[in-house]
Amino acid sequence: MIRATGFCIFVAFSLTSLSCTREEAPAVADPRSHDYFSFANTDQFVTQHLNLELTVDFEAEELRGSATLQIRRIENDASEIILDTRDITIEATSFVQTSGEMLKAEHRIGETHSIMGTPLFVKVPADIRNEEKFTLRLDYRTSPKSTALQWLPAELTAGLEHPFLFSQSQAIHARSWIPLQDTPAVRITYTAKIHTPPELLALMSADNDPGAERDGTYEFEMPQPIPSYLLAIAVGNIYFAPIGDETGVYSEPELLEASAFEFADTQTMLETAEAMFGPYQWGRYDLLILPPSFPFGGMENPRLSFLTPSLLAGDRSLVSVVAHELAHSWSGNLVTNATWRDGWLNEGWTSYLEHRLMQVIYSEARADEENLLDYRELLLNFETVNPAMQALAPTLEHGDPDDFQGIIHYHKGNLFLQYLEKAFGRDVFDVFIGEYFRDFAFGTITSEQFLDYLDENLLSAYPGKINREQVKQWLYAPGLPDYALIPTSRNLDTAAEMAALWSSGEIDITDVPSAGWSPQAMRHFINSLDSDLSTERLNELDAALGLSATSNAEIGRTWFIQVAQRQHRPAYEQLEQHLRRYGRTRLVRPVYVALAQNGSDLELAKEIFAEVREVYHPLTNISIESAFSRIQETGN
Ligand code: BES
Ligand code: ZN
Repeated sequence: MIRATGFCIFVAFSLTSLSCTREEAPAVADPRSHDYFSFANTDQFVTQHLNLELTVDFEAEELRGSATLQIRRIENDASEIILDTRDITIEATSFVQTSGEMLKAEHRIGETHSIMGTPLFVKVPADIRNEEKFTLRLDYRTSPKSTALQWLPAELTAGLEHPFLFSQSQAIHARSWIPLQDTPAVRITYTAKIHTPPELLALMSADNDPGAERDGTYEFEMPQPIPSYLLAIAVGNIYFAPIGDETGVYSEPELLEASAFEFADTQTMLETAEAMFGPYQWGRYDLLILPPSFPFGGMENPRLSFLTPSLLAGDRSLVSVVAHELAHSWSGNLVTNATWRDGWLNEGWTSYLEHRLMQVIYSEARADEENLLDYRELLLNFETVNPAMQALAPTLEHGDPDDFQGIIHYHKGNLFLQYLEKAFGRDVFDVFIGEYFRDFAFGTITSEQFLDYLDENLLSAYPGKINREQVKQWLYAPGLPDYALIPTSRNLDTAAEMAALWSSGEIDITDVPSAGWSPQAMRHFINSLDSDLSTERLNELDAALGLSATSNAEIGRTWFIQVAQRQHRPAYEQLEQHLRRYGRTRLVRPVYVALAQNGSDLELAKEIFAEVREVYHPLTNISIESAFSRIQETGN
């Protein structure tokens, strides 16, 4: 039976026009809940614990050592375990017996798939098979091409003296630094011993000790079970500054003071989140500020969120990313989407909780501003995403989870939860939130399980407010239902009015009260300008508001998208500087896209990219390349 399923996966991936039907895949009870992005036969074996012992070799750009998996057999006569790998060299496989003796295991490497990587098959002989649990050790080394690891030379760090390594495992990259069952449906605890050059510090998504002795050997434990995409490591010239009793920030020493200032509210955020969502289950909550090539705003690695340095605006205006990553300690890390197709259960929930935190810690007005900006991004996104993929929980059997869903999972998911909150009232909904996190703690959930849980605990418990069909519309239909709540913000309305008045010449630039505006209002102002402003007027605006010279990465992003769309050449030099200064995909990709789509500057965009790509993260490069190919193929 399992062979049939396995076969079906290969077919679905090698010929994307074919897909598994229920008949072809009898081993999968509900094909929607199957993880199409892992080779692992998790219905036969599940990993419970991982022990890593790795040496970090900056010269060879490789991690080398062993991963020892404690595995539980689920199906009695299953005789082969399948693990996920990508660009990993397996040197030996062995079973560690209870006596401590090692028994050589037989393994074979399967065919490589461009998105999923390479399955590793390990025979489980009868005597081992008879045990309910067994231990498998894999000796291996990673490749410099590992899609999860970025090996940065000293020149690309703040201090310019020491190299830096960091991982990014989500969505399916853990398999490129650890051979394992790489699916969010399996949770593991882990321990690790990491050897580094003695002057550097290693950190993991585990029990980092702010006072650790810097001696080149670091031991970690993560006692709470986590999905594989939350496995994380960073090594560099990293130091620590405390924020509160349970919170602090790690970064290169050059950025430490600025980071401690920018994220000073983290302890308050943690306490507020606990009061609102239930107990924080992970011990400490620290932040790690990475070099500029970190491809995301943040990544919710448990106990240690990874953050882009582009958040260091100097005025705490971009800290909603911290609220977001912290909120993942509940939505995502505690209650995890069963597959990437259910990603809205991670990201939509987290965006909703992020806004809730921003309301309490900062102000309703600020949360409204951010909510409206997110909504605007969602509307733009609907214009480019095909209708089938606009569902929160689409049918998904192939593709790459890295370029899947994004904005829709975040912002449509958020609007869905805001709609539920409004319908049942905040008090009732808050009780639901607490119970949901308690009932599914350290578990995984599919969209269909969520629907049933919601039905039982809210829809049926408080009849006459929302029916199941309405919820299904959110989950399975494109766009937004007519009854969605449309975000509003008084501050942003004012900014839009000012943009209209200035654009039409009714007021002077000195009459625009921008000094009192938040960066969010400034972004909305920029996005609300008339489309046919002359070069002179754009120059005037830029000079008065200092847009090209901004040190706020989000204002820069918004402005330079406009600069590229409008072909406002006087600002092209600063646009190029923006593209060199930041590596976060969100900050650079849309600027390249706007250049490439403006009818004149595709070649320029490609030239700049060709020069700068060396300092970007491989995932950022892949995403920009694929945008260029799409634009070249379709003209859009
Ligand atoms: N988990 C995501 C980052 C991610 C998503 C990595 C998909 C790999 C695949 C993280 O929590 C996130 O959402 N980051 C956002 C933050 C923003 C929405 C506040 C980002 O990086 O832009
Ligand atoms: Zn997120």
